[in-house]
Amino acid sequence: MFGVRCLLLALRRCSSAPCPKHKQATRLRVCEALEAQEVAGDIKVQGWVRSVRSQKQVLFLHINDGSSLESLQVVADPSLEHRDLTFGSAVEVQGKLVKSLHRMQNVELKAENIRVVGPCDTLTFPFKPRERQPLEYSRQFPHLRCRTNTLSSLLRVRSEATAAIHSFFKDNGYVHVHTPIITSNDCEGAGELFHVRTSNEVQEPGENSHFFNVPAFLTVSGQLHLEVMAGAFTQVFTFGPTFRAENSQSRRHLAEFYMVEAEMSFTESLQDIIQVMEDLFKTVTSIVLSKCPQDVELFHKYISPAQKGRLEQMLKNKFITIPYTEAVEILKRAPQTFTFQPKWGNDLQTEHEKYLVKHCGEVPVFVVNYPYDLKPFYMRDNEDGPQHTVAAVDLLVPGIGELCGGSLREERLHFLQSRLERLGLADAYQWYLDLRQFGSAPHGGFGMGFERYLQCILGVDNIKDVIPFPRFPHSCLL
Ligand code: 4AD
Ligand code: MG
Repeated sequence: MFGVRCLLLALRRCSSAPCPKHKQATRLRVCEALEAQEVAGDIKVQGWVRSVRSQKQVLFLHINDGSSLESLQVVADPSLEHRDLTFGSAVEVQGKLVKSLHRMQNVELKAENIRVVGPCDTLTFPFKPRERQPLEYSRQFPHLRCRTNTLSSLLRVRSEATAAIHSFFKDNGYVHVHTPIITSNDCEGAGELFHVRTSNEVQEPGENSHFFNVPAFLTVSGQLHLEVMAGAFTQVFTFGPTFRAENSQSRRHLAEFYMVEAEMSFTESLQDIIQVMEDLFKTVTSIVLSKCPQDVELFHKYISPAQKGRLEQMLKNKFITIPYTEAVEILKRAPQTFTFQPKWGNDLQTEHEKYLVKHCGEVPVFVVNYPYDLKPFYMRDNEDGPQHTVAAVDLLVPGIGELCGGSLREERLHFLQSRLERLGLADAYQWYLDLRQFGSAPHGGFGMGFERYLQCILGVDNIKDVIPFPRFPHSCLL
């Protein structure tokens, strides 16, 4: 008998079979076969061979189809062995699920037929059976590394975390919005944009030669578009690709990454935004830990042994909040010397962020109320002095530094207008000023770097190891 889910699935498939005489074998994914509690006949499993062990009396295979970290053991008569049945080959195995004598697994597939669908040249295939290669090695093979245990675990975690983020916002009444990828607004104003041109546009185009009539860029943040939508739906989020033309040689920067962004109307306190950030982190992480414990365990066991304890601390404790001014004082009193001297008015560097987290006992830290001149034009003036600080918040996490950035937005027309005029941007952002003219509500939101989030929960040092396709070799963008 199957587990309940498998049984239902199997029945559904059988019921669509054309006629009982030509009944086909029921195809099971490896994870479904592994979940089965007892025997079942006429099963088909498709996947890639992870190991082949040939003994006098019996042939053992392990088959993996990406549905779980664990592979399915296949036992077969040695007569079914074939020259092409090697590590890495794609196969289809038909047989019966039988009770396994092995204490680590319930069932195994007793093969009646093994078909090699696609052979694999093991001499030139860059991965070998039972070898755990360093992540830097796998990075050289962006097209093949998803066949390794480490990367397939990572990609399942990434997929579960994506679903958990969507369900977190859905469960809390947020509307999902697809914000534009090509846009003419530069939300962060830091000048790290990718310019979008058609292949026919000349290098120095005049105004009218632009495809969009205005210069167009790849988005650095969907925030301004979310603010538009928060003015109608109250609570909105987006989760999409984001682009920054900054040095992607760093271990925590990418040119193309995914950002989760939320925007809430009728929010008057930074504390409300902080609460959503903390809830998002804790809820999504708990879901990921419960949905793919083995995949997470692989990272905590082999890649970053200290991460399991760190993560437990993060989930157990309330995150800490400190004002920027106090953070600078803590850094000035630090017994260590920094490459960048901490000074009020300067941005916090990664070394500062990591020190602050350590100082707070390796618990995530919200740093709030940054200097006015450090932050983009849309952040709300705290009015604690002439243009002194804004209601901004960054969430710093152990091992990574900044994970989220957010703020209350300046909803007061005259404040925003005079700031944009000083920057010479009032015309370009007239539409944004309009939002403050027609039913302006206090609002705020934040963005979380999805790859940095994955680095944080899994303990992965280099951000290139949490994306499906690392940019390597640089001459070929896969
Ligand atoms: O702090 P940032 O620049 O904030 C914004 O873009 C806001 N407009 C978001 C908002 O309020 N809706 O970026 C948010 C987060 C950072 O904290 C960081 O985790 C991540 O995005 N991030 C990057 N991740 C990988 N590579 C890069 N180059 C990144 N730049 C930012
Ligand atoms: Mg930031």
